Amino acid sequence: MICLGIESSCDETAVAIIEDGRKVLANIVSTQIPIHKKFGGVVPEIASRKHLTNIAFVVKEALDTANIGFKDIDYIGVTYGPGLIGALLVGVAYAKSLAYALNIPIVPTHHIEGHIAANYLTYEKLEPPFLALVVSGGHTHLIHVKNYTEFDIIGKTRDDAVGEAFDKVARVLNLPYPGGPEVSKLAQEGKFTYNLPKTKFENLDFSFSGIKTAVINIAHKEGDKLNKADLACSFEQTVTDELIENCMKAMKQLNTNKVVLAGGVSANRVLREKLEKACKERKYECYLPDLKYCTDNAAMIASAAHFNYISGKKYDILDKLNLNAIANLKIGE
Ligand code: KG4
Ligand code: ZN
Repeated sequence: MICLGIESSCDETAVAIIEDGRKVLANIVSTQIPIHKKFGGVVPEIASRKHLTNIAFVVKEALDTANIGFKDIDYIGVTYGPGLIGALLVGVAYAKSLAYALNIPIVPTHHIEGHIAANYLTYEKLEPPFLALVVSGGHTHLIHVKNYTEFDIIGKTRDDAVGEAFDKVARVLNLPYPGGPEVSKLAQEGKFTYNLPKTKFENLDFSFSGIKTAVINIAHKEGDKLNKADLACSFEQTVTDELIENCMKAMKQLNTNKVVLAGGVSANRVLREKLEKACKERKYECYLPDLKYCTDNAAMIASAAHFNYISGKKYDILDKLNLNAIANLKIGE
């Protein structure tokens, strides 16, 4: 079965073509980063306009790369939330009109389910159940993935997502958008010298606004004397420690030995190394997504759509012309 996946929830217009959920025939990502960089972050109105002008070209490129035509597509998987509403709407409207024109089903797909599915593309034999540590610009979740389509959130951030904290720290250190990779690059030149606050809860929740504020205060107080690389390194080390500690606690609580990393921040080298090390020490199985599937792409969306499709969660397009985007869609809905 051939799925055409569409992802437009933030600043990447992405289209992929996947066979049977795991075989990537095309994975095209048209990024808007150079446009939003000038503004220091994503401008939602510009994002949706750019999706609108890009999407048909990205679909064409995906079909050409996979060397197939519209007639070969069996169904469409599209991100319908969460994300920027105007951006999501472009993908959803395009998917609906294409599904209608081709008379094929449509599978509305949750963005975070897509990030988790990035691991199915990386590891051919990976199967649930497992724990997923989801770390992106908008989410920091510990999710019990019970099977391909059932998800239980067992821990989450009470304020900022970890990617959001990286981006805000980047801003105060005068690093360009998107900040996560820049903070990480600078951190490599620094040492872990700043003692930054960690938040601990009884349950498996996270909080990153305290450490973010501490970093901002230090940067303002030290001004020109600030050692930016040391502060970046201390921030990266502290937040990654916090993620690993909670993740290991969750593994025990779930009594599982399988953990999967997902979301844009899973590209972070320090986090990948720490998770691998912690798992090795405890003899856990550790799955890290291929770097090309860490940040937003449509291959992961098509993969998640596949598992929903085969479990029967597909929609005849004639019934589903009223499908809408949902900016704050919860996982499992
Ligand atoms: O998953 P994603 O592409 O978009 C959302 O669904 O939010 O994640 C983007 C986030 C941004 O906050 C970006 O700064 C962060 O992932 N990120 C990183 C790295 N690469 C991307 N954060 C830390 N280290 C990285 N190497
Ligand atoms: Zn994402």
